[in-house]
Amino acid sequence: MTFDTIIRGGTVATASDTFQCDVGISGGRIAALGENLGGAKDIVDARERLVLPGGIDSHVHIAQPSGPGIVMADDFASGTRSAAFGGNTMVLPFAMQQKGESLREVVKAYHTKADGHCYVDVSFHLIIADATDRVLGQELPALVNDGYTSFKVFMTYEGLALSDLELLNVMSVARETGALVMVHAENYDTIRFLTDRLERAGKTAPHYHAASRPIPVEREATHRAISLSEIVDVPIMIVHVSNREAMEEIRRAQQRGLKIYGETCPQYLVLTAKDLEGLNMEGAKYVCSPPPRDHASQQACWEGLQQRVFSLFSSDHCPFRYDEKGKLAPKGRTSFRWVPNGIPGVETRLPILFSEGVSKRRISLNEFVALSATNHARTYGLYPKKGTIAVGADADIAIWDPNRELTISQSLMHGGSDYTPYEGIKVKGWPVSTMVRGKFVVRDGELVGQEGAGEYVSREKSPLAKPREA
Ligand code: URP
Ligand code: ZN
Ligand code: ZN
Repeated sequence: MTFDTIIRGGTVATASDTFQCDVGISGGRIAALGENLGGAKDIVDARERLVLPGGIDSHVHIAQPSGPGIVMADDFASGTRSAAFGGNTMVLPFAMQQKGESLREVVKAYHTKADGHCYVDVSFHLIIADATDRVLGQELPALVNDGYTSFKVFMTYEGLALSDLELLNVMSVARETGALVMVHAENYDTIRFLTDRLERAGKTAPHYHAASRPIPVEREATHRAISLSEIVDVPIMIVHVSNREAMEEIRRAQQRGLKIYGETCPQYLVLTAKDLEGLNMEGAKYVCSPPPRDHASQQACWEGLQQRVFSLFSSDHCPFRYDEKGKLAPKGRTSFRWVPNGIPGVETRLPILFSEGVSKRRISLNEFVALSATNHARTYGLYPKKGTIAVGADADIAIWDPNRELTISQSLMHGGSDYTPYEGIKVKGWPVSTMVRGKFVVRDGELVGQEGAGEYVSREKSPLAKPREA
């Protein structure tokens, strides 16, 4: 048999197995796995390389409106290009509703921004900011039916925070429609109280951002989100968990048989609140929510990954420039309160997890695959088309050099931001080539894909979203 492409001689790993074989690709899909496969138009030498499912980053923010004068650093072209260089073949950004907006119109607007501009495949989650009767009764159920099968709700942020009643109403719609709810768990009123108090005391430098949302803010909201989901009897995903107390809340819920899932991110493994203490406004580069904590919290997040309390490892890529278009945009407003929340990370997520996890033997290669790709596909209704290397699956593949040693630096990045919060971190293991549906986007470190080659993928309902009593 002749294939379009054969990836020859590599070590293939899935979430469950590691084996030596060739990968035969035809028509954008994996057509065969085996030894000495026949001929192909393109034979890729993968000796000494790992052949892994392309990363799926299921938590990224791209081209989101971010407040007066603030422009998100990535559009869909730059964000998905950066993703490809980071070993990803798919990202799941948010279509964010703002108060008063129709959800259907929001989704249309995001398609206009994304369609024809992506280098890797994309699919949208929704963000529900205005839980009106029309949104809950008509728009949301119709959109779930149309393949937008997950949505995020916020327990904090001006203009986004939902009341407990609204959270319960949104969760009820998720239960009825079989959608998965993602929860940003921080207590809004407590953050407002602490922010006011810090500002009155003149404590306005970026590092006070961390003091304005300490661990109990996250623990309380995590506990409350779990309680609300238990009352409605609907599974939820707690996103970007930063510390032991929140992790333990999720673990306890899981041990009680509740369908509570957890996600953590690179910033909680390798950054701390100390990073926010840079001179002048430099600390603004690390302002994100929840904030990075301390070494004990990093250890707890590793435990959460190793013990499968967390099933997802995502970047929460939310890129701003460190200049007057981004982190420093709120001119004259020097308090941390005005610094846009979020950091770039879609390109560094996997090298950090590989290096700190696999190279340093904290997790196995198969766990890496699960946390970086397979679990995302399973959680968000994309499996087995995406997230694995198997006959019939899309040929979404990242080829890694497990021995390549590099120091992360902005000069290596391909996104729209002008800094990386991971500058100076040494890593061992690097994605050298990324292929989406059988076509290289990045080959041996060079961009060879086309803007617009990435497609929008409509999703099935999450198998995790079934209520316990269904
Ligand atoms: O600071 C963060 N995490 N910004 C992105 C928005 C969010 O809450 O995920
Ligand atoms: Zn969030
Ligand atoms: Zn986020």
